[in-house]
Amino acid sequence: MAQARLVVDPAFSLGAVDRRLFGSFVEHMGRCVYEGIFEPGHPEADERGYRRDVLALARELGATVIRYPGGNFVSSYRWEDGIGPVSERPTRLDLAWRSIEPNTFGLHEFLGWTELAEVEPMLAVNLGTRGVQDAADLVEYCNHPGGTVLSDRRAKNGAVDPFGVHLWCLGNEMDGDWQVGQKTATEYGRLAAETAKAMRLVDPSIELVACGSSNREQRTFAAWEATVLEHTYPFVDYISMHTYYEETDSLADFLATAVDMDGFIEDVVAAADYVRAKLRSPKQLKISFDEWNVWYQTRHHALPERDWRHAPSLIEDDFTVADAVAVGSYLISLLNHADRVAIACQAQLANIIAPIRTLGGGPAWRQPPFYPFAAAARLARGVALRLPVQAPAMETPKFGAVPSVTSAATWDEQSRSLSIFLVNRDPDNDHIAEVDVRALALREVWEQQALFDPDIRATNSAHQPDRVRPRGEITARLQDGRLTVPLPAVSWTALSVNAATS
Ligand code: AHR
Repeated sequence: MAQARLVVDPAFSLGAVDRRLFGSFVEHMGRCVYEGIFEPGHPEADERGYRRDVLALARELGATVIRYPGGNFVSSYRWEDGIGPVSERPTRLDLAWRSIEPNTFGLHEFLGWTELAEVEPMLAVNLGTRGVQDAADLVEYCNHPGGTVLSDRRAKNGAVDPFGVHLWCLGNEMDGDWQVGQKTATEYGRLAAETAKAMRLVDPSIELVACGSSNREQRTFAAWEATVLEHTYPFVDYISMHTYYEETDSLADFLATAVDMDGFIEDVVAAADYVRAKLRSPKQLKISFDEWNVWYQTRHHALPERDWRHAPSLIEDDFTVADAVAVGSYLISLLNHADRVAIACQAQLANIIAPIRTLGGGPAWRQPPFYPFAAAARLARGVALRLPVQAPAMETPKFGAVPSVTSAATWDEQSRSLSIFLVNRDPDNDHIAEVDVRALALREVWEQQALFDPDIRATNSAHQPDRVRPRGEITARLQDGRLTVPLPAVSWTALSVNAATS
């Protein structure tokens, strides 16, 4: 068995892990909201229509931030449709997903749900078909204490205290030709800058995310970031990134896609730092990676053909063990860039390429990627460490030779605990990780979780909700300052190790 060698030393810190790295996303798309988190009349629904079973799973998942209401949906959304008495709300065509939107779930319902779930809301404003005034109005409605038409309307609608929404996205994927109201980089950059200024005039404490490219394959990628940031740099706090990966011809390529994610992050950092230098700005911009996941886009069309329905089943991928391992590697990539990536949202929370699946009127269950996400959200605390890895190389058709083992580590001084996340992305070979932890007086491995299976295509379903679960046996051995961890082929592992108090 080949060995991967790692060195852990708390002297080499990348910086604090922002808790918002473990975000998720709820879009008015398919069955994410309706039959996902919200289903009045379901046996598990509470008096407001929230599904208690899904809420419990969302809490267990441990997502810290939830982005809402889109996604593509937001680009033609009128936020006022989702406030006020439900019986008076309009039913509309949702142009993004060619669906019927009844607006029985809107702003108050979402923010009420985030309170129950104990997550921070992240709202997107419509910069597709709308602009400066509507965005400023929405901030006023949400955050102004009272005494104006909009803040008083919020109180009348049941929320006397301001919602205090802190995080805002300036539109969504505005470079995409699928977007309602697509813009050029200059059009979007100017609009985003003016919108940001107006939103900040209403509430100077908010944080703002400018749209980066929809993905790295966009023809305009990097030039888009540079132009948008030349207009918006002084007014925004983050630039967004989105990416989705899938297995097409080669399992090895798919399992190595975190290599692409690493490169993508580094490219966006380069574009942001170019603008910083050009503007002689002292400010260093961070990244909001507010959509990432596995998504089998080539397997099915997302859009129903001219079939206007409410909450159709869209992109409900059944994820496998291999997908969970890939998700584990993306979380490692995010942690290894914790110095520049502050916020990240796995897309999406329920049903839409999601860790949580439901049946309308039926049960809810965890998909395999639920587990690496929940473990990272719970165990990645304190600071992310620079973690040099020397691992046997594996050949991939697309990325060439890549290290077969990828890993990240965090160190929490307060609890004196070390968390290590490891993925063996080699489709054919088991490996052993030997982690040099002599820099820490480690006492014991107190938790290990590992996800692997002889059938890497195994999945969970309503009938077999627990077919895939992480194994909890502690197979790692700690001796003489070295931690030895067996890593089966196509596996994800999380470890938590206690150190003696200094
Ligand atoms: O998450 C699904 C969709 O993917 C989002 O609506 C959009 O922003 C992205 O293209």
